[in-house]
Amino acid sequence: MPIASIVAEPPLQDVQTAQHVITSNTKRGVPMPWWAKIAAKVVLSRVMPSYQVRQRLGLFRHGAMDRDAHRQIRQVERVIAHHRAHGRNTPRAILELGPGDSVGMALVAKSMGFHTSYLVDVGDFASRDMQVYTRLLDALRDTGHTPPSNVDTSSRDALLKSVDSSYRTIGTRALKDIPDTSIDILFSNAVLEHVARSEFQDLIEETFRIMTPGAIAHHQIDLMDHLGGALNNLRFSERVWEGRLMSNSGFYTNRLRFSEILDIAKKAGFNFAVTQITAWPELPTPKRALAAPFNALPDDELKVATFGLLLRKPD
Ligand SMILES: C[S@@+](CC[C@H](N)C(=O)[O-])C[C@H]1O[C@@H](n2cnc3c(N)ncnc32)[C@H](O)[C@@H]1O
Repeated sequence: MPIASIVAEPPLQDVQTAQHVITSNTKRGVPMPWWAKIAAKVVLSRVMPSYQVRQRLGLFRHGAMDRDAHRQIRQVERVIAHHRAHGRNTPRAILELGPGDSVGMALVAKSMGFHTSYLVDVGDFASRDMQVYTRLLDALRDTGHTPPSNVDTSSRDALLKSVDSSYRTIGTRALKDIPDTSIDILFSNAVLEHVARSEFQDLIEETFRIMTPGAIAHHQIDLMDHLGGALNNLRFSERVWEGRLMSNSGFYTNRLRFSEILDIAKKAGFNFAVTQITAWPELPTPKRALAAPFNALPDDELKVATFGLLLRKPD
């Protein structure tokens, strides 16, 4: 499949796709074989089921957004820039899927003029340490933004209320309560690959329903295994991988590939463009080790490691 030929569809053909070939090692995390990581994570998630405890002990994190205020600001600035280039109306409502360890986006959005924001995750993972948010307030001022004067930093929930934000922690089901055509900008970072395979299409269709005509969504997607940055997750049959043992142990990814994700977005009704694509020069895991149906996919498809997906709901 010539990936380069399917990077955009009208009317987003003018979007530049940054294409990178991976030149350095993509291995990440603790240097342990992938199978040992699976074993360790399965055991750890059973003996220590509380996310908060595992996070406090430094054994598992959903991301680092609570630690990097400037990255959180840049993330919203970037999606606003996409909206300026391709969106239709003045954005008033923004939604982040899978914020992970911080609800800081709510503060960033209010400081950038949004009336309302939504944060949707599958659990209450966001920090209640108010220093996370006071550091973000400082970073906003340092970067020339003006946080509203009535921000309440007495608690996380008071903060959310003071910036007209709603943090919903029941995943895809939370989208069902959001009115039709009410969101102008939607984004996610390292989230879509974690959405349960059985829910993925529904989630994309729900985002289409809640977005206003001409609204923009941007998703940054990581297709590498979350066992060390290769394709070892594709070694397993669907029955094993989607079973409770593998899917509830903190390394689950839905294994949807680049073209499948594009197809689902197109079927939901979106126009799309790929803003960034990173590919391995060679497959990081031998094809003969992969399970069906992955071992029958073209190499080009399997070589896509990460990509940025810009979606626009037609007017
Ligand atoms: C790797 S973390 C990324 C967190 C954050 N976006 C970041 O960049 O630091 C993936 C996040 O996606 C969330 N997630 C998984 N399935 C989801 C769903 N169906 N709806 C919303 N969030 C989901 C997880 O709970 C987790 O917070």
